[in-house]
Amino acid sequence: MKYLILSDIHSNQEALGAVFSFVRRKPWDKVVFLGDLVGYGANPNQAVNMLRSMKPLVGIRGNHDKVCSGIETGELFNRIALEAAMWTRRKLTKTNLRWLKALPQGPAVVDGAFAISHGTPIDEDAYIFGEIEALNVFRQTDYPVCFFGHSHFPVIFGLSTESITTILTIAPSFRFKLKPGVRYLINPGSIGQPRDGNPLASFALYDTESRVVTIHRIAYRVEQTQGKILKAGLPRPLADRLALGR
Ligand SMILES: [Fe+2]
Repeated sequence: MKYLILSDIHSNQEALGAVFSFVRRKPWDKVVFLGDLVGYGANPNQAVNMLRSMKPLVGIRGNHDKVCSGIETGELFNRIALEAAMWTRRKLTKTNLRWLKALPQGPAVVDGAFAISHGTPIDEDAYIFGEIEALNVFRQTDYPVCFFGHSHFPVIFGLSTESITTILTIAPSFRFKLKPGVRYLINPGSIGQPRDGNPLASFALYDTESRVVTIHRIAYRVEQTQGKILKAGLPRPLADRLALGR
């Protein structure tokens, strides 16, 4: 089975559109979404509609989905994130708001093949930035393969009986075959707001038969997305950071 693994779209219609155009030429069976469909960007309804049209779909909620749909108040958000979340809450249609609210909390196990979480499988709002956080998650769970999001950069952590290794991907299409006897925590990166210094949208394809994960970086019309953010009256830093990838 081939899975499209998508995360942290953040209301970025152009980035999500570019990813969908790219995968039109690829064989895939199912879409898996790791949370944060909305928040930050200017097209929350378009993002929800586009993702909902990708069936079959398995999805979980992110911290921005919770605040934008009113499940949480966002008291831990910084000023800019909170302003964007409140703007998003006002813009979402009733149907899309209801759909976002109904997104289940992670972790979830997809087809008995792998797990997914937004932050970590232990705490949906916690980050995995480096090996110490990854090691703690490996120790407290037993998933052979778990995809996660929230930190907005593509990375593969592998735990063998000997050590933990980190692969930070740089190539436009990074292909990696999972090794037997090694457990993995994999972030496909962020589609709508990458933070690894590379502004290209990031997502993954996972073939469970060959055990190959490919992380792709896709160009999109960043200026158009920035223009929409400014026109909507959203905070300027949200537009500026898209061109920098941070
Ligand atoms: Fe996010």
